[in-house]
Amino acid sequence: MDIQFLILLTLFTKSNCDLVLKQVLILSRHNVRTPLAKNLELMTPKIWPVWKEKRGYLTAKGALLEGFMGAYFSKWLQKEGLLTDQCPTEQELYVYANSAQRTVASAQAFVDDGFPGCNVTVHSQTNSDPIFNPIVHNKTAAYKQEALDQMQKKLRLLSLKSCYDQIEKILDYEQSKLCLEQGKCDLNTDKNQPYVAAGAKPNLTGPLKISKSAIDSFIMENYEGFHSNEVAWGMLPNEQKWYSIIDLSRGYHNVIFNTTVIAKDVAKPLVKYMSEMLLKDDPPKVLFLMGHDANIYTVLNLMGFKPYYLEKQYEVTPAGGKIVFQKWWDKKIKQYFLKVNYVYQSTDGMRKGYRLSLEYPPEFTLLELNGCTINNEGYCPWQDFKKLLTKFISA
Ligand SMILES: *[C@@H]1O[C@H](CO)[C@@H](O)[C@H](O)[C@H]1NC(C)=O
Ligand SMILES: *[C@@H]1O[C@H](CO)[C@@H](O)[C@H](O)[C@H]1NC(C)=O
Ligand SMILES: *[C@@H]1O[C@H](CO)[C@@H](O)[C@H](O)[C@H]1NC(C)=O
Ligand SMILES: *[C@@H]1O[C@H](CO)[C@@H](O)[C@H](O)[C@H]1NC(C)=O
Repeated sequence: MDIQFLILLTLFTKSNCDLVLKQVLILSRHNVRTPLAKNLELMTPKIWPVWKEKRGYLTAKGALLEGFMGAYFSKWLQKEGLLTDQCPTEQELYVYANSAQRTVASAQAFVDDGFPGCNVTVHSQTNSDPIFNPIVHNKTAAYKQEALDQMQKKLRLLSLKSCYDQIEKILDYEQSKLCLEQGKCDLNTDKNQPYVAAGAKPNLTGPLKISKSAIDSFIMENYEGFHSNEVAWGMLPNEQKWYSIIDLSRGYHNVIFNTTVIAKDVAKPLVKYMSEMLLKDDPPKVLFLMGHDANIYTVLNLMGFKPYYLEKQYEVTPAGGKIVFQKWWDKKIKQYFLKVNYVYQSTDGMRKGYRLSLEYPPEFTLLELNGCTINNEGYCPWQDFKKLLTKFISA
């Protein structure tokens, strides 16, 4: 046997036998929902597909897909020995969702299929929940100016001419009410205006927001399984076409959520909560949190995750996607390690409604934190992670 093979063999054996899963924190985005934008019909003369559910609600397809996730995670956590085949207690599995319908219903679908007959409680607040609510907290004028400057800087770095040309074509934008009645006719030259105010979500008005809202609808239509002639009126028939517009959606999210000054402020309550739960003496074995893309973007930025790429997905923070923090115990060297994966279903798998199982798992993409360097198996020392968490709590 050559030496390289021996090394490989040792690595392989180590990852399978010596590591035991001790604790998991899952930060999820809700699953497929109906489009959020109120002004879609102003963007195009074309008729949008009709949805059964109310605006911004989880759809039946979304509940089905989130159920698949629940069933998969339940099996995986049992396989790793963290849960048993009995109904979990709250000390074993604690479920906490933001108060919006789509987050509560997503979490409910996850537990209903993952733990049928167990009556796992989905905890949530009745009103807006300050832990999840992605609003700006800092009331100072200096903060507002800094945030606006950083957003403007991100805006200036975008170069989206060909994307705007494409989306104008798809929408037949020149014939839209926005153009005919409001004189907003050119996505390339109309102005993007960022807004920052304490107590509100950071936002942006203008072409990028319009484009992102339309694309959000196309993405949800596609997951939902609308006929291919109905998804973007048949104008996104292949991957190449999707990639010709998707940077508009990515750019929008990048501007409003991915500046350090915004992320640091907006995600602070959630990161603090997550850090405290991860460091608690007697934490729930599995903590399942259900929020929004705004939560995932800002948490990833605040915690200092390195850029990542999700294969087989157009979204950077896919519907139903989960950041899975895992605490592993290495029996041999007697040390704890952290591993973090982005776990999500492929666009195609969601559209076709593929059921997940241990044999057909969701996609796992390894994530890495600045400040917690991973080894070649994707693990970083828990000690280093703990230092980061302590810093987040005291920030
Ligand atoms: C779950 O709740 C239902 C309805 O409230 C009840 O009939 C059932 O016994 C409960 N199951 C468990 C395992 O507690
Ligand atoms: C608010 O923002 C200003 C300017 O960035 C900063 O100096 C201050 O520390 C922030 N306040 C809080 C409570 O974070
Ligand atoms: C954007 O935020 C500003 C300030 O908070 C608010 O007045 C405005 O209504 C918001 N616009 C949108 C489209 O959400
Ligand atoms: C956030 O911004 C950084 C650069 O500042 C970039 O490398 C990263 O890809 C962005 N993340 C997302 C999710 O867009």
